[in-house]
Amino acid sequence: MWTQELSVDNVSIDNEHKQLFALIDNFYKGIKDNSPKERLEELILGLVSYTKTHFSNEELHMSRMGYPDLASHKELHEVFVKNVTGYYDRLKGGKLILSIEVTNFLKDWLVNHIKGSDQQYAAFELAQKV
Ligand SMILES: [Fe+2]
Ligand SMILES: [Fe+2]
Repeated sequence: MWTQELSVDNVSIDNEHKQLFALIDNFYKGIKDNSPKERLEELILGLVSYTKTHFSNEELHMSRMGYPDLASHKELHEVFVKNVTGYYDRLKGGKLILSIEVTNFLKDWLVNHIKGSDQQYAAFELAQKV
């Protein structure tokens, strides 16, 4: 769940973060409701695709402000996309028993990433303005 303390002082990025939480939540509901595998695949694909969109928007935003840690931030994004894509592949191959733990991993990663890395570029941006 998005809360004000996760804000990066940018309305459009905050909205994208909110949307990511909403997609993770839908996925969580899908698992809880025992949705068919095809539906879960669809939900996880939607999450992968929106995550990629968000990451590229965010990377553009960081590059525009001349953020010095862009490269390492990008790497974190790539690892996350690999993880989520891995879930999708395993689900498709019938090898992943989806559990609440998977969604907790996604949610925790997102919260920690926003609180840590994303808020660092927000602080950098703020410091440039003063
Ligand atoms: Fe990020
Ligand atoms: Fe982000």
